[in-house]
Amino acid sequence: MINIPKGTKDVLPGDSYQWQYVEGIAREVAKLYNLKEIRTPVFEHTELFLRGVGDTTDIVTKEMYTFRDKGDRSITLKPEGTAGAARSYIENGLAGGAQPVKMYYIIPAFRYERPQAGRLREFHQFGVEVFGAKGADADAEVISLADSLLRRLGIRVKLHINSIGCPQCRAAYNKALKEYFAPHLEELCPDCRARYEKNPLRLLDCKEESCKKINRDAPVILDYLCPECREHFEALKGYLDLAGIGYEIDPRIVRGLDYYTRTVFEFVSEDIGAQGTVCGGGRYDGLIEEIGGAPTPAVGFAAGIERLLMVMEAAGTKPPAPKGPKVYLAGLDAECRKKAFALAETLRNAGISAETDHMERSVKAQFKFADKIGAEYVAVIGGNELLSGVMNVKCLADSSSEPVPFAQAIEYFSEK
Ligand code: HAM
Repeated sequence: MINIPKGTKDVLPGDSYQWQYVEGIAREVAKLYNLKEIRTPVFEHTELFLRGVGDTTDIVTKEMYTFRDKGDRSITLKPEGTAGAARSYIENGLAGGAQPVKMYYIIPAFRYERPQAGRLREFHQFGVEVFGAKGADADAEVISLADSLLRRLGIRVKLHINSIGCPQCRAAYNKALKEYFAPHLEELCPDCRARYEKNPLRLLDCKEESCKKINRDAPVILDYLCPECREHFEALKGYLDLAGIGYEIDPRIVRGLDYYTRTVFEFVSEDIGAQGTVCGGGRYDGLIEEIGGAPTPAVGFAAGIERLLMVMEAAGTKPPAPKGPKVYLAGLDAECRKKAFALAETLRNAGISAETDHMERSVKAQFKFADKIGAEYVAVIGGNELLSGVMNVKCLADSSSEPVPFAQAIEYFSEK
C-alpha cells in the first residue's frame, strides 16, 4: 500500500464541510473589506523566494521544496503566498491601476518542517495583501480583517504587535545586537553564528534552547526605532484603539521572513500547544523593490487554516455537519429502481437533492442507508406505486408519512 507523504493530510468527504465553512467565512470577510481574490501558481522560480523571503531564513535555508524541472529550471513549491502575490502585482502592472490594490488568496503552502500538531509540510493559508498604501490605517485595517475573521469563527486569541523598523533603524539595531551577542558567540548554535554575520535579527528567531536563553536579555528593537517608524507605530496603536481591537506589545516578535518592515503582528492561541500562532503578518515596504518593482509599500497577513480548525475544535465552535439529501428514493426491484433513478433525476434538475440505491440493497437495507446518510425523507417505490403513480413519503425526523403522486414530487419537496 502507498501511504500519504509525511506531514500531509487528506481532507475526507465527511470533513470537507469544515474547510468550506472556514473558507466561506474568509471570503465573506474579504468582501466586507473590499478585497478581491488573486490566484497565482503553486510553484514559482526559486529565485523569487531567495530574494523575497530571504536567504537567511529557516524557510529558505531548510524548508523549501525545490527541484529542477525538465527544462533545468530551479522551481520551488510556494512556502507562503506573499512573494507570489507581489510578483504578480509587478508582472501584471497592477501598480498602474487605482491604489491600493487589495487582494486575498486561499492556497496550499509547502515547508519541509518537522511535523507535529499544527505543523505540516503541506498546509493551507488564507492570506491578505494590500499593495500601495503606506499609512498605519492600512495596517490597522488588515489587522481588523484578521480579527473579524477570528471573531466570526468563534475564536478568541491574543493579538501581539511590534514594530521592527525600517532599514535605517535596523542598521543601528543590528549593531546593538552584534555588540550584545559578541561575548556569547561560542555558546550560540552553528546556525546562529552564521546569522550573526549575515542577519543578526534572525538570531532572535532561533528555536534552540541555548540560544533562546541568551536571546532573553538582547536589546529590543522598539528602543532603536527612528522618529518616522516610531510615529507609524504610534499611529497604528491609535487606529487599533479606534477599531476597538485590544493588543499587547511584544517587542520580541521578529517573524520568520525577511521582508518585514515596521509593523509585525501575530494572533496567538493558548489552546493548541506549541504551534499557537494562528495568524501572522505585517508590513513589507521593501519587498516589491527587492524583487524588481518600483518602491511600493505593502501590508498583509496569513492565517493557517489547519490551525484555525484546531482552535475552533478546542473552542467548540466547529460548524454542525451539513444535512444529508432531501429525499432518498428506495426501489423494490430492478424496474422500481429505474423509476427511482428517473425521479431522482427529475428532482435534482429542479434543485432538490436526491439519492437512490446503487448497491442493489433490499428495501430494509436502503432504509438503513437513508438514515445513515441523513436523508430527510424516504419514499419506497414498489410494484403498487408504479401502477398507481403515487408513493408514500416518510419523514425520518418524526416518522409521519404522506402519499405523494410522482407528478407532484417537485412541488411537494420544494415546499419542504
Ligand atoms: P507565516 O507566519 O510564515 O507568514 O505563516 C502564516 C500562518 O501560516 C502561520 O501563522 C500559521 O498559522 C500557518 N503556518 C505556517 N507554517 C505552517 C505549517 N508548517 N503548518 C501549519 N500551518 C503553518 C506568512 O506565510 C506570510 N506570508 C504572511 C504574510 C502575508 N505577511 C504579509 N502578508
